[in-house]
Amino acid sequence: MSIKFFEKHKVFKLDGKDTSYIIAVVDEEQFLGHVYFGKKIMDENVNYLLRTEEPPFVPSKNNRDRVSFYDSFPTEYSTNGIGDFREACLAVKDIKGNTSCKLQYSSHKIYKGKEELKDMPATFGNEKECTSLEITCIDKDLNLEVVLIYTVFENLDVVTRSVRIKNCSVNSINITKALSMCIDFEGIDYDMISLHGSWARERHISRRKVSYGKQSVASVRGESSHQDNPFIVLLDKDATEDYGNAYGFNFVYSGNFLAQVEGCQFDTTRVVMGINPTDFSWLLESNKEFVAPEVVMVYSNEGIGKMTRTFHDLYRNHLIRGKYKDQKRPILINNWEATYFDFNTEKLLSIAKEAFKVGIEMLVMDDGWFGKRSSDNSSLGDWVVNEEKIQGGLKYLVDEVNKLGLEFGIWFEPEMISPDSDLYREHPDWCIHIEGRIPALCREQYVLDLTRKEVVDYIYESLKKVLSSANIKYVKWDMNRQLTDLGSNNIPPERHGEILHRYVLAVYEMMNRLTTDFPDLLLENCSGGGARFDPGMLYYSPQIWCSDDTDAIERLKIQQGTSMVYPLAAMGAHVSDCPNHTVGRTTPFETRGYVALAGTFGYELDITKISEEDRNMIPKQIAMYHKYNDLVRTGDYYRIANFSDNNCFDSYEVVSKDKSEVLVTCIQVLGRPNYHSRRIKLKGLIENAMYRNEETDEVYSGGALMYAGIHINNLYGDYSGKILHFIRE
Ligand code: DGJ
Repeated sequence: MSIKFFEKHKVFKLDGKDTSYIIAVVDEEQFLGHVYFGKKIMDENVNYLLRTEEPPFVPSKNNRDRVSFYDSFPTEYSTNGIGDFREACLAVKDIKGNTSCKLQYSSHKIYKGKEELKDMPATFGNEKECTSLEITCIDKDLNLEVVLIYTVFENLDVVTRSVRIKNCSVNSINITKALSMCIDFEGIDYDMISLHGSWARERHISRRKVSYGKQSVASVRGESSHQDNPFIVLLDKDATEDYGNAYGFNFVYSGNFLAQVEGCQFDTTRVVMGINPTDFSWLLESNKEFVAPEVVMVYSNEGIGKMTRTFHDLYRNHLIRGKYKDQKRPILINNWEATYFDFNTEKLLSIAKEAFKVGIEMLVMDDGWFGKRSSDNSSLGDWVVNEEKIQGGLKYLVDEVNKLGLEFGIWFEPEMISPDSDLYREHPDWCIHIEGRIPALCREQYVLDLTRKEVVDYIYESLKKVLSSANIKYVKWDMNRQLTDLGSNNIPPERHGEILHRYVLAVYEMMNRLTTDFPDLLLENCSGGGARFDPGMLYYSPQIWCSDDTDAIERLKIQQGTSMVYPLAAMGAHVSDCPNHTVGRTTPFETRGYVALAGTFGYELDITKISEEDRNMIPKQIAMYHKYNDLVRTGDYYRIANFSDNNCFDSYEVVSKDKSEVLVTCIQVLGRPNYHSRRIKLKGLIENAMYRNEETDEVYSGGALMYAGIHINNLYGDYSGKILHFIRE
């Protein structure tokens, strides 16, 4: 068992591959303290780390300094109102309006495997792969039971956490805050990394020094957001790609979140993560339970790189599900950047015909095929094919595309409603809105009130009808606005704070229905580009559209940030036309292919209109995809050079798990005059094995490639690129 309880010292020890996580029960009052998280240690008793021998400890014997105790003790799960004035994870309001909560250990259970989280996405593993611990704490006065749930994966440096709260009293209690994890780290000399951005520049890596007070990233937009991803790293201030301690925290949730690092008075650092308390509350009736979503915590003693590879392994094996989990994805061509709303059957068939000739495998019909939608001003909610555009109907189009040799995929935006739609005219109260106030439009659309079962049923059934009407193999599930004007006729005032979380649960329920009814469907999530690139979505869809910005150079930054936590195979990436529609930049077609190769790989252009030279390059790119995709999908990812740091050159590599091959990508973002070749050092190879450069036939030892390095000739021109493939002899 990799989780043990040591009775003598009242210690829980959770051991991963090279990680230990230790919790202890202390004092007669049974406080739960966080003892240690880091590199694996063998000792069961390191309780001195809790400083229980130092004043002001021992509240049960010395109530005089109880507040000082609470305010300095490294608690395992912090609560409001008792004297720990750092960030609380749990806050409640009882029937009398009191807001304090004090938790004490009551019991625990340890079991093999991992239980599902009710109605929510979470990592999974069988009895051989992981062990779980549930520690039940109680507030005796409130009669509130709080179960802290942990899972440790045997072969990974991962601990997951979630929380189940049960009201055992006869009265209802209002949960006003329920974060999922808390850890107090010793010291304050840390850096914090987050993935910051906006539409078209999602998940850029942002690193800052941790300081006293609170520094946080968050979303209050109803989605995980373009602006901040539910992911942070706390790392040694001198930690690098390959060196130092790094702790990654990722929230398996697709709505509002808070991820916060707090530098505290005694030079400790508190990290918390969970559902953002803004606009959140949950009325917990007697005997009812509330479950806070899962946080994944990854520890690396070898810098950010190892942390990344652990996340990738965890998500590839214990989060992503379904038919395509371990499969090469069909190479698709999407008509969004090719036609926007201006298409019909004939146009789509002309694209399909050319696409087949070069080896593309699927046509995806994007936004604009339904209702009377010819711009983004109307028809969301009317999921009926527009036969003026799709002449002959959907089945005809799909059959014709199939006859040309391609599979067919389709776009939906199921969570939205246009004011100019039959659905809205019939059900104006089906959108999220406040009675008597005109809700704010965004892209001329409202958000459906998914807290209402009839809305979920109606929308899901409309999707199902379309999907059952033709041979559709892929769905792009889009979501193009944030939530405002929170109000619902379905929710009583005392439950108003539940709207956002109920909305997220309803999205999960719809995705669950979809993936259950259509198990062979390839689902790609999307949210105005990459506003919902989070582990919650990855549980339902093996890939997520990374960004509406398809420019190869912008993508380097976006994909580098995204891949810090999410596997390459999950990143939706397409080759598009130039000048790029978002930034107006022209990059070589070849480079666009290299950059898309690090993701799902596909096309987003009008193949009937691009130059012959570009079109002729597609079969070569497709051969490259077929040759390398298994490696890219399953291998270990290493960052080598980052052009955001050095201003001109970017490089990364993927090494196969058995270290028998490595694919290196180099992009010269800005040409450098009067400069010799550039030396790069590879990573993750076997020192004494010999590797052959497939292009030149030259053979080097892994040691030479890693420690001495190789030369990349100065590439001529901005935005030029090159890939190198080494095979073990
Ligand atoms: C936003 C997506 O990111 C795009 O790819 C495209 O599907 C549009 N929405 C369609 O409205």
